[in-house]
Parts: sequence; structure tokens; C-alpha cells
Amino acid sequence: MRILVTGGAGFIGSNFVHFLLDETEHEVTVLDKLTYAGNLASLAGLPEDRFSFVKGDIADAELVDRLIADHDAVVHYAAESHNDNSLDDPRPFLDTNVVGTFTLIEAARRHGSRFHHISTDEVYGDLELDDPERFTERTPYNPSSPYSSTKAGSDLLVRAWVRSFGLRATISNCSNNYGPYQHVEKFIPRQITNVLRGVRPRLYGSGQNVRDWIHADDHSRAVLTILERGRIGETYLIGADGERSNRTVVEDILRLMGQPADAYDHVVDRPGHDLRYAIDSTRLRDELGWRPRFQDFEAGLAATIDWYREHEDWWAPAKDATEAKYRAQGR
Ligand code: NAD
Ligand code: TYD
Repeated sequence: MRILVTGGAGFIGSNFVHFLLDETEHEVTVLDKLTYAGNLASLAGLPEDRFSFVKGDIADAELVDRLIADHDAVVHYAAESHNDNSLDDPRPFLDTNVVGTFTLIEAARRHGSRFHHISTDEVYGDLELDDPERFTERTPYNPSSPYSSTKAGSDLLVRAWVRSFGLRATISNCSNNYGPYQHVEKFIPRQITNVLRGVRPRLYGSGQNVRDWIHADDHSRAVLTILERGRIGETYLIGADGERSNRTVVEDILRLMGQPADAYDHVVDRPGHDLRYAIDSTRLRDELGWRPRFQDFEAGLAATIDWYREHEDWWAPAKDATEAKYRAQGR
């Protein structure tokens, strides 16, 4: 297949592109606007005969139409992806996550293309710490932030285009990813690069909030499985049973980096901060046979720490500006 990957210069998109080129015969074109979150260095050294890059906006209807006409499938990662930014300035989240997705699915329906929409478990809102339930494909949508509400909006657009226009689409909602090439604004890379710079990690509020961590490679393998064998019109939740409190993760990072486990600071909490996310990925496992391969979180985290230690040239250019933004928020 010729696959168009939107947002392929970002964290999860670039991991997916590396995965496709390493493990399949597919050809890949990345469409990416190269916002502050996109980085061409994440795509360096890929084979030129199977990979090409187009700089552009997913909301550019003419460009999107031309590219989609020329590909067999679209895997749509491009988004404004950071909750904290969405609280400061929601507008780009509407433009990219809602209008950008609309632009893509209009072109996909015109050309009868296979479309896979990447989304997040945050569309379901949050769970109490002691709730025995986890999110399933039947959980009602209840997003909390401008980020998660625009992702929810984009999911609903895709569902409506399937029902109303017969768009050949699938949707996946994944939990929090970790791994290489993640922007230093996000929780795990921020703390690792802080420690590498001799700065104490920053925990929002009490640190009791729980996220359900999955390695980006496991996410990529799940997406390819759904693209190849998923039922059209279906939603699949992707998760690896990786629930951990933020405090535990910071303590793990400090310990793995040879620091005292309590060498972190509490900072002002995020407004509307979701308490807990947890995914039940039974449908994906039972129907499509997917299983996570990175089941040892500490080993995956140690490998991620090594990656940031060895790739300061990749993350250092973004670090100062990111921390300046956080300082202005008191975090
Ligand atoms: P990211 O912020 O690292 O990357 C986003 C990429 O999209 C960047 O390369 C950026 O330049 C590009 N982009 C932004 N606006 C664009 C536009 N208008 N046109 C073209 N390109 C544009 O994000 P990520 O963490 O890799 O997330 C990728 C996708 O996965 C998103 O849809 C996100 O909602 C979803 N997701 C992320 C997580 C997570 O833990 N990070 C979990 C579940 C789902
Ligand atoms: P983040 O990586 O922003 O992902 P999301 O908001 O999509 O879950 O944050 C993960 C968790 O870590 C979230 O509960 C907020 C918290 N957090 C901190 O405690 N300190 C930080 O410096 C950051 C960036 C996040």
C-alpha cells in the first residue's frame, strides 16, 4: 500500500513511520505542518525509495485532496496534542483537530480511501481512583479539556462520515504513550531531561493522578493491525494494562537515573486535571489478536531514559522555550 501518514514528524507518528518502514513493505508519505511539535530530525535517514515528506497543513483542502488521491490509505495522527497548551490557547486545537480532520475525511470520501483515525482515551473523561470499571468502546464520551473535547469532536465527525457517507474508516483510542521522539513538554521526557540538566522533576498537584502507559511501538503495531484487519466503522481501544500514578513514575525515573526517589517538587495543579485513565482493550485482543510486547514498564522506561541521554541534540533545542512556557504557568 501507499500510506499517507499525517503528523508523521510528531512523537507517535514518527514512531509509526519507523515501524512501517522497518517491518512492512508499504510506502509512506508524511504530511506534516512542522508546528513546534514536529521535528524532521525524527525522520532522518529513512529509505528514499519508500519514504517522502510533504510540509503542509491538513486543513489545506487542495493539498489534502491531491495527496489522498495518490494514496491507498490515510493514517491520521496530526493534532495539537498537549492539554496544557489547550488551556492557554484553544484556537489551534479547533483548527487542526476539528477542521483539519473534517478536511481529511471529506477528501477520503471523495476518493473512497481507507481512513484510520488516531485518537485518545481522554475523550471518555476520567475515572475515580477506586473505580473497578475501565474505559471500553461503549463508555459515553465526557471530555474535560479543550484538547480532549476537540479530539472527541473529531471522533464524532469520523463516525458520522462512516454512517452518512460510507467512509471506510476505523478509529482507535489509545492511552498515554511513552518512548523515543516524545516532545519535552510531555510528562516523562520533561522529567528525564530535567534530571539530565540537574533540575528537579515537577509533579502537578498531589501526584496521585493515574495514567495508563503504553510503549509507542505497541501502539504502532496495534494501529497496523487495525488498518489491515479491523472492521470498517469500528472503534478499538488500545491499552497495555500500564496504570501508574504520576508520583510512582517520577520516583521510577529518579531511581533509574541514580537520584533519591523524593528529589522532586510539587507544583500548582493543572485546571480540570483528569484524575485517572484506564483502558480495557479486550476487543482489540479478542478480535484481532493484538498483544502488547513491552509489558515491563521499568525496562521500557530505562530504555527511554537511555534514548534521551544519547539524543540531547534532538531535544535540547526545544527545552529552554518549553521550560519558559511552564515557568509562566507557575509549573
Ligand atoms: P505530537 O504533538 O508529538 O505531534 C503532532 C504532529 O502533528 C506534529 O508533527 C505537528 O507538526 C503535526 N501537526 C499539528 N498540526 C498540524 C496541521 N494542522 N497539519 C499538519 N500537521 C500538523 O503528538 P503525538 O503525541 O505524537 O500525538 C499524535 C496523535 O496521537 C494525536 O492525534 C493524539 O491525539 C494521539 N494520541 C496521543 C497520545 C499520547 O500519549 N501522546 C495518546 C493517545 C492518542
Ligand atoms: P501529559 O504528558 O501532559 O499527558 P496527559 O495530560 O495527556 O495525560 O501529562 C501526564 C500526566 O503528568 C498528567 O497527569 C499531568 C502530569 N504532569 C506532571 O505532573 N508534571 C509535568 O511536568 C507534566 C508535563 C505533566
